[in-house]
Amino acid sequence: MPPPALARPSPSPTGAAPAPVVVPPEALFTRLEAATAGLDPPLAAVDLASFDANALDLARRAGGLPVRVATKSVRCRHLLERVLAVPGFRGVMAHSLAEALWLARGPGGLPDVLMGYPSADRRSLGELASDELAASRVTIMVDSPDQLDLVDSVAPPSRRPPIRVCLDIDASLRMAGGRVHLGVRRSPVHLASEAEALARAVVGRRGFSLVGVMAYEAQIAGVADRPPGRPLRAMAVRAMQAASAAELARRRGAVVAAVSKVSPLELVNGGGTGSLERTAADPAVTELTAGSGLFGPALFDHYRAFRPYPAALFALPVVRRPDQGTVTVAGGGWVASGAAGADRLPVPVWPEGLQLTRAEGAGEVQTPLRGTGVSSLRVGDRVWFRHAKAGELCEHVSALHLVGEGEARAVPTYRGEGQAFV
Ligand SMILES: Cc1ncc(COP(=O)(O)O)c(C=O)c1O
Repeated sequence: MPPPALARPSPSPTGAAPAPVVVPPEALFTRLEAATAGLDPPLAAVDLASFDANALDLARRAGGLPVRVATKSVRCRHLLERVLAVPGFRGVMAHSLAEALWLARGPGGLPDVLMGYPSADRRSLGELASDELAASRVTIMVDSPDQLDLVDSVAPPSRRPPIRVCLDIDASLRMAGGRVHLGVRRSPVHLASEAEALARAVVGRRGFSLVGVMAYEAQIAGVADRPPGRPLRAMAVRAMQAASAAELARRRGAVVAAVSKVSPLELVNGGGTGSLERTAADPAVTELTAGSGLFGPALFDHYRAFRPYPAALFALPVVRRPDQGTVTVAGGGWVASGAAGADRLPVPVWPEGLQLTRAEGAGEVQTPLRGTGVSSLRVGDRVWFRHAKAGELCEHVSALHLVGEGEARAVPTYRGEGQAFV
C-alpha cells in the first residue's frame, strides 16, 4: 500500500475567499520538525497555515451559506474558536449532549449549539432542562416522539424552559421499494408526510419548540468519488451520488414545506465536508455542516471537487530496527472508526517511502514500517503520520501543537481538558 501523494492542492478558483497558501510538503515537514524539535513524540501537530486555508476553502465551497462546525471532527476548543472567527462559519454541531452543555454554558459559552444526533443521556437532559441559558443555546435532535418522552420523564414540561428541537430526516436513497438502502441507518423519518406528523407531535406537546430540520446525506458527503485505482467504483459512486442528490433535492424541499406549515423554521441543515457545493445548491437548505475538511485527514483525499491540505499530523518515534529493511515505531494503532478496512489505517507520510506491513498493520504499542524511507531512519528519529479521520486523532493526545506562529504552542484537546464524550 503506497503512501498517498502529498502534493499540495492547486489554489482555489477565485471566489470570496483568498486562495490557500500553497506550501510544498518538504516545507511543511521542515516546519513541523523545526517547531516541535524540543518535544518527545508521540505528539500531534496542526499546521495553522493549512488549517486556515482549509477553513477558507470550506467557506468558499459553501457558496455564501453559513457553515456550522462539526465538533466531532475537531475536538479542541481552541481550534473551534479559531474557525468560528473565520467569516462564513456560524455555530457548531455537537456530538454529545454533555459536550453541547460544556460548550454552551456560562457567560463565554457558545451561543448556537445544534446536536447532530439524538441523546439518551438523562443526566445531561436534566441539566439542560434546569439551565435557562443553556436551553436557549442548545437545540436537541429528535426523530421520534420517544426522545420527547425521555425529556419529559427527566423534567416535566411545567418545570423547564422550552427545549429547542430539530427534526432529523433520513437523507438516504431508497430504491426497489426500500429493499435497497444507500446511506446511513439513522432517522426513520423519510417522507414529507412522516416529517409533518413528527412536527405536529412536537408542537402538540408543551415544553418544546420546533426550530429546525436536518437531513445529512452521508452517502454523498462521506463517500469519495475518486477512489484511486478503482475506475468502476468511481463510476458507480458518481452515478449513485447524482441520483441521490436529485432525489433529495425533491424530497428535502417537500419535507421543509410540510414542516413549515406546522412551525416556522430557523434552520434547515444539510451536508458535510464532501458535499458542500451540492448541498448548497438545494434551495431548501439554509446552512451547511463541515468539520473534517479542517484537518484534511486521509479519507478526504479522493474527492473530485476539493482537496484539503493535510493540516493535522502525528509523529511517532523510531524505537528499533528489526532488520535492514524495517524500522519499528512506538504505538501507531490510531485506527479510524467505520467499516473496518485498510482505508481506516493511519498513513505514514514522512519521510517518504514508508509503508505499514500487511502482517501487523498499525500496532497497539509497536508498528513496523518498511520501504525506501527506512534507510534514512535511526533510533530516536520520527515518522509523521496522517490519521484516516479528523477528530478521532484528538482522542489519543492531550494536546495539539500548533505550528506556524513561531514555536509550536500546545493547546488542549477535549481529552486534555479531561473530557471524553463518545
Ligand atoms: C449529522 C452530520 N452532519 C454533518 C457531518 C459532516 O461532518 P464532516 O464534515 O466532519 O465530515 C456528519 C459527519 O458524520 C454528520 O454526522
